[in-house]
Amino acid sequence: MNLQFTEEQLMVQDMVRDFAQSEITPFIEKMEEGEFPREILKKMGDLGLMGMTTPEELGGAGMDFTSYILAINELSKVSPVVAVILAVHTSVGTNPILYFGTDEQKKKYIPKLARGEYLGAFCLTEAEAGSDAASIRTRAVKSADNYVLNGSKVFITNGGEAEVNIVFASTNPEKGARGISAFIVEKDTPGFIVGKNEEKMGLHGSKTVQITFENMKIPASQLLGEENHGFKIAMANLDVGRIGIAAQALGIAEAALDASIEYAKQRVQFGKPIAQQQGVGFKLADMATMVEAAKLLVYKATDLNNRGKDCSKEASMAKLLASRAAVQVTTEAIQVFGGYGYTKDYPVERYFRDAKITEIYEGTSEIQRIVISKNL
Ligand code: CAA
Repeated sequence: MNLQFTEEQLMVQDMVRDFAQSEITPFIEKMEEGEFPREILKKMGDLGLMGMTTPEELGGAGMDFTSYILAINELSKVSPVVAVILAVHTSVGTNPILYFGTDEQKKKYIPKLARGEYLGAFCLTEAEAGSDAASIRTRAVKSADNYVLNGSKVFITNGGEAEVNIVFASTNPEKGARGISAFIVEKDTPGFIVGKNEEKMGLHGSKTVQITFENMKIPASQLLGEENHGFKIAMANLDVGRIGIAAQALGIAEAALDASIEYAKQRVQFGKPIAQQQGVGFKLADMATMVEAAKLLVYKATDLNNRGKDCSKEASMAKLLASRAAVQVTTEAIQVFGGYGYTKDYPVERYFRDAKITEIYEGTSEIQRIVISKNL
């Protein structure tokens, strides 16, 4: 495994770090109040960040996967909200079209997605089909040259904001996972109804909505890949997507660790900085060890995918460990800050609220264990 990043990758990392600190930090308060960061996404589009791994001939920046993961990680240290918007847009909003789309579909959607003119979303989850994704009930029925979709999705990240939606629906309900198809659905299609935006514990500013399809007619040309082969499209893109969420979780943990070290070095109690009190020093040691272990797994999975190798197991391991690290390190960070950590005067309470979801979305920790154990 190569943990030596190239000069180009390090340049991308520096550029994203600077961008996050100068452009995103001032916007955090607005996002905490629920504002979706459209302006920031526009700037990210101008910098090529909305199509980092998209080939240049399709309007992207043509960078490698490692650069993309470094970018997600840097963004997450400042704003896990912006990071998840980008991660969903890229790995499950754009890549399904890039990898499974026809030339026509690619030409129509990819350049706009890569430039950030379009935002992408992934509509899989339903009220009764979360972890058991194959049990979705949204139906797509073919009639002449169209499909008519009926059903409802929940917890759709970027939903309602995204112009392009990768929608999964059953075309053959008797066949379960083997009867699911994927479709490219534009937001302004009649019958595409955006519902409630969830009020979440964290990730304020990221949209999480319900979407209903009511007799929504789409041309048959919007089918992505082959009919009844959609579940594999979902799974394959989630495999890689999970590395992005792992990098997000790692970024949250790193930010909480850095803030804790800085605070512990200057906060004096019993006549010396609390970092020099064993109770706190040991806590910081455990936090740093968790972060380092998560980092190794995240970049191992990243490296495998970067070299075109199968990374399903490692991606799930990275997400499982990094999300645990994020939850544990942010919890301990509040403890290091004491009462101040429980207030909004310091960022650790936000890190704590933002961390928890990384153990849930793009497959819960329990689902990651299923994927890992199946691969053993
Ligand atoms: N790649 C390609 N194909 C795969 C695959 C993979 N990683 N995993 C499974 N498949 C294929 C199988 O080969 C099988 O195909 P065949 O029948 O032709 O052999 C088919 O898919 C069904 O496989 P399983 O029987 O293993 O499927 P399952 O019903 O047992 O489910 C699961 C497997 C891993 C539990 C899956 O349901 C799963 O990942 N659940 C979690 C769902 C999830 O992650 N949702 C996230 C929503 S998106 C999101 O959260 C974004 C956001 O907001 C940030």
